[in-house]
Amino acid sequence: VEQNHKALYDLMEQVARYYQTQLRQHPSAARAVDYLKQRGLTGQIAKQFDLGFAAPGWDNLLQQFGSNETQRKLLLDAGMLVQNESGKIYDRFRDRIVFPIRDQRGRVIAFGGRVLGDDKPKYLNSPETAIFHKGRELYGLYQARKANRKLERILVVEGYMDVIALAQHDISYATATLGTATSKTHLERIFRLCPEVVFCFDGDQAGRKAAFRALEAALPALEDGRQARFLFLPEGEDPDDAVRAGGRDGFELMLQQAKALENFLFETLSEGLDSNSLDGRARLSKLALPYIRQMPEGVYQQLMFQELARRTGLELSSLMQLEAPAAPKT
Ligand code: GTP
Ligand code: MN
Ligand code: MN
Ligand code: MN
Ligand code: MN
Repeated sequence: VEQNHKALYDLMEQVARYYQTQLRQHPSAARAVDYLKQRGLTGQIAKQFDLGFAAPGWDNLLQQFGSNETQRKLLLDAGMLVQNESGKIYDRFRDRIVFPIRDQRGRVIAFGGRVLGDDKPKYLNSPETAIFHKGRELYGLYQARKANRKLERILVVEGYMDVIALAQHDISYATATLGTATSKTHLERIFRLCPEVVFCFDGDQAGRKAAFRALEAALPALEDGRQARFLFLPEGEDPDDAVRAGGRDGFELMLQQAKALENFLFETLSEGLDSNSLDGRARLSKLALPYIRQMPEGVYQQLMFQELARRTGLELSSLMQLEAPAAPKT
């Protein structure tokens, strides 16, 4: 039975407010404010995402909220304190910009924290806790729902700063997976809210790999009327860079040209195959079938089979009779 985690939720909300206040008031917060400005963010957008500042020091949170044993235990359970081998406890987030992560209902369930410069690790995230289950949450989904009475599409990007930079440019429907792979839970959550998802990961090898894994997660969710597309950015760019370079209009123009899932699938599977040779076409059919078979039955799936038949030159009926190879794991 799921426990009542009210004490944890309350604490996390208070901590978020504390960090927010620190960003305005702490003597060394000017560096943090400058950092945000230099990344093109206004105070208004910082407020919309409740950005805060975890000041330098090992025990700011501990002093503020850890007045007794019960409170310290709660802070530990919330993932806001770290305990080392000798039992000493200290603040997890120190000298970082903090990003409260809210669940779909708006409750603060975790934090991300970024260094102000080039130190490592660049980002820290809360660990899994009783109220934070990484593979399920989408950063920015709460804000996206709040900003749009009806969402037409949801954009999935990699990072906090991508979501916020897009919102800064009035693209208020971006969410981020935060270093975890796109999961079936993510897709179910998205498609309950709108019919279209566009994945827009970083223009690098990791981003392209993440895109194909997102395709695999999306297939079983693609009932008729739902669509998944992929926006591939120029090498070395992420959505934050792209929207800052092209503005809202430039970004939305690229978005209109995002690749449909079927094209991404067939193009990827055709890589290294000679589609003019019989052998290449035979291999494409064997490769593509297990993916298409993961889609729910419907018109979209039928059209995918037909498209594969067209690309391979096979009769649809012979294609459908091909033995099913072991399905790929998604
Ligand atoms: P900026 O440099 O601030 O623009 O960050 P970015 O979001 O472009 O970073 P990157 O593309 O490297 O990473 C995307 C997302 O992965 C981040 O927003 C984080 O959620 C996560 N991530 C990146 N680096 C780290 C890290 O060092 N540790 C952890 N835990 N997560 C990271
Ligand atoms: Mn739980
Ligand atoms: Mn990256
Ligand atoms: Mn990035
Ligand atoms: Mn970036």
